Amino acid sequence: MTQDELKALVGLEALKYVRRGVVIGVGTGSTVNHFIKALGSHEELCKGIKGAVSSSVATTKLLKELGVDVLETDQVEELSIYIDGADEIDHSGYMIKGGGAALTREKIVASMALEFICIADETKLVNKLGRFPLPVEIIPMAEANIARKFEALGGKAKLRLKDNKPLVTDNGQNILDVMGLSIDDPLAFESMVNQWPGVVTVGVFANQRASKCLLATSEGVKTLNFVQRSMG
Ligand code: 5RP
Repeated sequence: MTQDELKALVGLEALKYVRRGVVIGVGTGSTVNHFIKALGSHEELCKGIKGAVSSSVATTKLLKELGVDVLETDQVEELSIYIDGADEIDHSGYMIKGGGAALTREKIVASMALEFICIADETKLVNKLGRFPLPVEIIPMAEANIARKFEALGGKAKLRLKDNKPLVTDNGQNILDVMGLSIDDPLAFESMVNQWPGVVTVGVFANQRASKCLLATSEGVKTLNFVQRSMG
């Protein structure tokens, strides 16, 4: 199976967790796009949900095309589930996210959900986070200072470009991708980087880790259950 076929498989599997009458949180990326497509092809379920809170402009567009009511975060107190992909996920449900530059909104929506269901293909499962360049959303004027801080940790930070210009996120900020990190303690690492001035969001999802991962493999979808998370 190709990676895209695995993504489609797990996108479809995630429909089993969508209940009628609830508002769901929806992430961003090619795996999530498969989930949205699958939702669209199950008209009754698609029309049956109360709405969705979206994590990006791109996801909002796709959901609206299906006629899903896209709600703002202030219209919803909590979400029963948040469905999103990951760039890496370890055996405790800690993740690296932000390959699609939507990490800040993803973390906000994830923090509102009782359950984070990560949908991923088997290439994303790692023993330790850090192989995938870590995305960090930053305020532009802090770029050099933050890059130096990562260098001191053994990392190499590179400003993400789009069409030869710094990529601008949905929040009007930039992204640094940091290579060469080995993240032994995701919770401690997330807390440390979050405190650096100019960091908007670090792409380590430790406080907002997954509660479950639907992992697409060539033998089918495996369900990895992690310890329950508390909201916030
Ligand atoms: C976007 C993300 C995505 O979940 C992550 O990049 C995985 O993407 P894909 O499903 O395309 O492999 O964090 O910001």
